Amino acid sequence: MSAAPDRYVVIGNPIAHSKSPDIHARFAAQTGQHIVYERLLAPLDGFGQAVHNFIGAGGKGANVTVPFKLEAHALATELTPRAQAAGAVNTLKFEVDRITGDNTDGIGMVTDIIRNAGVAMRDKRVLLLGAGGAARGVILPVLDQQPAELVIANRTVSRATELASQFSQHARVSASSFEGIDGAFDIIINATSASLADDLPPVPASVFGGTAFAYDMMYAKEPTVFMRFAASHGAAVRDGLGMLVEQAAEAFFLWRGVRPDTVPVYAELRARL
Ligand code: ATR
Repeated sequence: MSAAPDRYVVIGNPIAHSKSPDIHARFAAQTGQHIVYERLLAPLDGFGQAVHNFIGAGGKGANVTVPFKLEAHALATELTPRAQAAGAVNTLKFEVDRITGDNTDGIGMVTDIIRNAGVAMRDKRVLLLGAGGAARGVILPVLDQQPAELVIANRTVSRATELASQFSQHARVSASSFEGIDGAFDIIINATSASLADDLPPVPASVFGGTAFAYDMMYAKEPTVFMRFAASHGAAVRDGLGMLVEQAAEAFFLWRGVRPDTVPVYAELRARL
């Protein structure tokens, strides 16, 4: 006699193109976990209701995507430190008396850079481009790696300054304009949404310094304009597909207590882009 599978969803609007059900189905098959994971389209004004309906139907957890990550943060009854620091939630876990909100985006990116790309962050100079939600989500996990320095550069400098000030208890976090970026960096992370518009953040080529590692949190079949620019100045480059798979693996671990092997799942997704 087998019990009904535990149910999970990814909630967003739009949601049809989410790869998360595919990723989690592969994780579940690989680890023998008895779950179902589906897409849930919530109305733009109906996120909280959709979550509570799903909990009422026995749901055990949810991933949350655009545009509901801030609402998920507000809805959670408990927040992990990294969700607090991110100010946004991409993973919810439902238990009898609580809704835990976590944010696995930052640790997903850090794992992809350190383990999959083999690039250590400790004692490195790290440049983060952008100061929106995507940038904010990765700051604490990056600082946990103890880089020598983290510079946050943004088109609207006041947003970078505001973000840096929120992490001012950590040594060596500072803000900059794009024109004011000083010197070369070991790791340059593009957390702007510029790639979506096929646009390049106006970063000086001198940041790459010949041996840098450049990471774009976006991904596409072809390298982004930022990756092409970085590569043309000698940087090793990587896109954010691995981040997508690793943030999912971290959510899976939060829910199931089991770590899936991300390597074959990443390879399959890459082949199908
Ligand atoms: P997200 O959740 O993806 O981070 P967001 O909070 O709207 O979205 O933030 C978008 C980020 O990309 C911001 O840092 C934005 O810069 P501004 O704060 O100056 O608006 C940045 N961005 C978007 N398009 C850009 C472009 N063409 N060049 C440089 N930065 C850009």
